Amino acid sequence: MSGIIVSPSILSADFANLERDIKLAEKAGADWIHVDVMDGHFVPNITIGVPVVRSLRKVTDLTLDVHLMIENPDKYIEDFAMAGADIITFHYEAADNPDNVIKLIKSFGKKVGMSIKPATSPDVVLPYLKSLDLVLVMTVEPGFGGQKFMPDCAAKIPLIRQQDERVIIQVDGGINAETAKICTDKGANSLVAGNYIYKSENIAEAVKSLR
Ligand code: DX5
Ligand code: ZN
Repeated sequence: MSGIIVSPSILSADFANLERDIKLAEKAGADWIHVDVMDGHFVPNITIGVPVVRSLRKVTDLTLDVHLMIENPDKYIEDFAMAGADIITFHYEAADNPDNVIKLIKSFGKKVGMSIKPATSPDVVLPYLKSLDLVLVMTVEPGFGGQKFMPDCAAKIPLIRQQDERVIIQVDGGINAETAKICTDKGANSLVAGNYIYKSENIAEAVKSLR
């Protein structure tokens, strides 16, 4: 085992068959399930919300890795925590007071992640590192699956890794076997992949090729 955590994004799964597609990811050896929550405000797209997380919780024991691309994340933390999220990742850019959001997520016994968009400097996460379980470095502009990997975003990883050997550094957007290697070489240890996994002919091979 390489110690790399693979988190398939169900944004690229078949929404009419989420249970089936999560079982496929389980059988393929996925570690977590990445759930992309979008509100049509923080990002231009709308995806899924609390009731879907609650339903997914009933069909899998895998860690539910919930990526909130929403404004006012503090308003919804309790709902996602109660629905069964294991990791709740919010966007630095969406939080008026990141310390409060971190405390709130922890108050429900959940793991906490902070994410930064492509234009956001990695410096902003440094003051919070010791309170975080995960930093999500977006490698595309959040909002849609199937976009092209942005190498400049991956260049942010070493600064974070140098400051903290413990924190999980996750990348999300345009991840495939090739771009995964670019990120893990720089210190990332959690890979989100939507299209690369769910649009592949052989999901197990796709998951394996990321490690
Ligand atoms: C994008 C989402 C991603 C998306 C990744 O805003 O946060 O999780 O599903 O999709 P791919 O891997 O297809 O780029
Ligand atoms: Zn995501």
